[in-house]
Amino acid sequence: MIFFTGKLEADFNDQMQKKFYITTPIYYVNDVPHIGHAYTTIAADVLARYHRLKGDPVFFLTGTDEHGQKVEKAAHERGRTPKEHADLLSVNFRKLWEKLEITNDAFIRTTDKEHIAVVQEFLQKLFDKGEIERRTYEGWYCTPDERFWTEKDIVDGKCPDCGRQVEQIQEDNYFFLMSKYQDRLIRHITDDPTFIRPESRRNEVLGFLTTHKLGDLCISRPKARLAWGIELPFDRDFVTYVWFDALTNYYSATRYLSPAAKGSTDPKTRESFWWPADHHLVGKDILTTHSVYWSTMLMALELPLPRNIFAHGWWTRDGKKMSKSIGNVIDPNEVVDTYGPDAFRFFVLREVPFGLDGDYSTETFVTRFNTELANDLGNLLSRVLTMVSKYFDGKVPAARDEHQTDRELRETACAIPAAVEADLNQLAFNKYLHSVWQLVTRANRYVEENAPWTLAKKNDMGRLATVMYNLAEALRLVALHLYPVMPGTSQSIWNCIGMDKQISASLLEDELSWGLIQAGTAICPGGQLFPRIDTKKDTGRGSTMINADKTKKEGKKMETKPEEQKPADKPAAAGTDLIGIEDFAKVQLRVGKIVQAERVEKSDKLVKLKVDIGTEVRQVVAGIGKHYAPEQLLDKQIVIVANLKPAKLMGVESQGMLLAASSGEILSVVTPDKEIAPGAKVK
Ligand code: MSP
Repeated sequence: MIFFTGKLEADFNDQMQKKFYITTPIYYVNDVPHIGHAYTTIAADVLARYHRLKGDPVFFLTGTDEHGQKVEKAAHERGRTPKEHADLLSVNFRKLWEKLEITNDAFIRTTDKEHIAVVQEFLQKLFDKGEIERRTYEGWYCTPDERFWTEKDIVDGKCPDCGRQVEQIQEDNYFFLMSKYQDRLIRHITDDPTFIRPESRRNEVLGFLTTHKLGDLCISRPKARLAWGIELPFDRDFVTYVWFDALTNYYSATRYLSPAAKGSTDPKTRESFWWPADHHLVGKDILTTHSVYWSTMLMALELPLPRNIFAHGWWTRDGKKMSKSIGNVIDPNEVVDTYGPDAFRFFVLREVPFGLDGDYSTETFVTRFNTELANDLGNLLSRVLTMVSKYFDGKVPAARDEHQTDRELRETACAIPAAVEADLNQLAFNKYLHSVWQLVTRANRYVEENAPWTLAKKNDMGRLATVMYNLAEALRLVALHLYPVMPGTSQSIWNCIGMDKQISASLLEDELSWGLIQAGTAICPGGQLFPRIDTKKDTGRGSTMINADKTKKEGKKMETKPEEQKPADKPAAAGTDLIGIEDFAKVQLRVGKIVQAERVEKSDKLVKLKVDIGTEVRQVVAGIGKHYAPEQLLDKQIVIVANLKPAKLMGVESQGMLLAASSGEILSVVTPDKEIAPGAKVK
């Protein structure tokens, strides 16, 4: 029970109406972060930023899923405890979120003691209510997926989900009586058309539920088989099934990680303030666990269901499924290091309607970058800045009378907020960006229609002033509306046109009116926003998959001039400095797998690696510390010179040398194209 006095209660209720709680899946620590993880997290960040701009109380949660067999196994293989392993790998996600300018309010880890307490509280409550029963289970089990399957489910003795061999097992376990909630769940999904979205996915779930008998859910694993999990509070011989543990994060975080509800420090108030979540964003592969397992768990716990579960599609690369073994996984770190976070954020949301599958290819990325970011937006800004500098001494002039084209530009700008609101409520990110682009396109047409350079030639400074003012104003609004997707770019545009406010600290409703730039404001031209990517010119440069101009976060060009290339960096010309095959054969190159990585004390450059080369584990010291954090190196396959005389670097012995390519500021460790046994010869 929450007690408030009149005004406080009214405030609390008002805030609760507006509150916005959004979650991403919690990612398995075992995986390296890839485009799929980044996609959901960027989408959630856009909505969180938008709601903050509207002044709504926001709680944006992401985190890592750290229990289970895979983590336990991987940790043992590396001689670490599962917790040590999770500590190391969880950091990869946090780092990527920083790089992508993700503004999550909290980062939950399922190894947090507060989370564990809530999972145990839920289990005990369900057990006490008779919602959990002990039974003997006999049937099929997929060890890698940690899932049970019935005879009907399996396909030729293989897991229907991952295609790997299933095992016949018999053991006692605890079951959550999920089946009894089947009808209620069907009713809930039928009555609330926005509970599962998009529509096609909702129909899939309903189709499944209305044609299959829902089973009960095995929510325990005997400790004898798996120790790395949360103990069942009512039977210490068992740990909790990872999905029961993981799904609970959405609720447990409201208790200990959410911002305190206004006017109260009582944790119970926090839970009831934030729960239920407004959106759980998930990939299509984990929709069943969310819409069926989680919903029925909440029904049994007598807690409200989330308002919406949105399942997005999957990314492929050049039309192919991404996989570590093929080596075609897109690492967002690389794209962001090359083009900055905003181009990546923009691309993934603009390219594909949220909910459908999408394909990532160099060509589509480059095309969008060059047409929409470099041409449409970048050129618009640079034209306006150049002309205001040239014709008005760098100060935004005052607008005079309004012509038809001015009116049209203004009306296009004023129609955007409603479109943005509607599109973002539908999570239609690509439509939202299309709406904003209508203003960018209209502004570019406005430049052509008004031909400011001709006005200048004719010395029609009055009309020229109006045109310049309107363009600066259009840019201010473009940046404001783009802010949730491209925060850095938007702020740069504001700075360039002389707005000294932070968009992140502004309120949307205060900034929406047309005409807010003060005449006389001094503009502040900067570098080019998005220099075009020139694929021909840049072939072979750098380490990323796209050969292109490197653009820094601030949008500046980063080029290595040919004359800066040291002679030693140039490939040998035919006939000079060549070696015979017998010389090359003297160098023993071997594939190794990094099993441990740490910085060498007092050196920001040197990293001490333990490298498994099949027959032994070598210690190799490498000067790559400025380019790679030790955690990024773990599990990486590399190539080492295995017959190099040992040498000491800063007092630490190195028994070999790692191969890396470097060009300008980029350094890239050489790695085999496919996973291959450590010790394999490189020739
Ligand atoms: N730990 C569970 C989630 C528990 S949530 C209570 C999990 N983790 S995961 O790391 O394997 O996957 C997280 C998300 O990445 C899922 O939403 C999944 O759909 C998404 N993706 C994995 N590969 C993807 C693509 N190729 N494209 C888009 N998203 C993809 O599942």
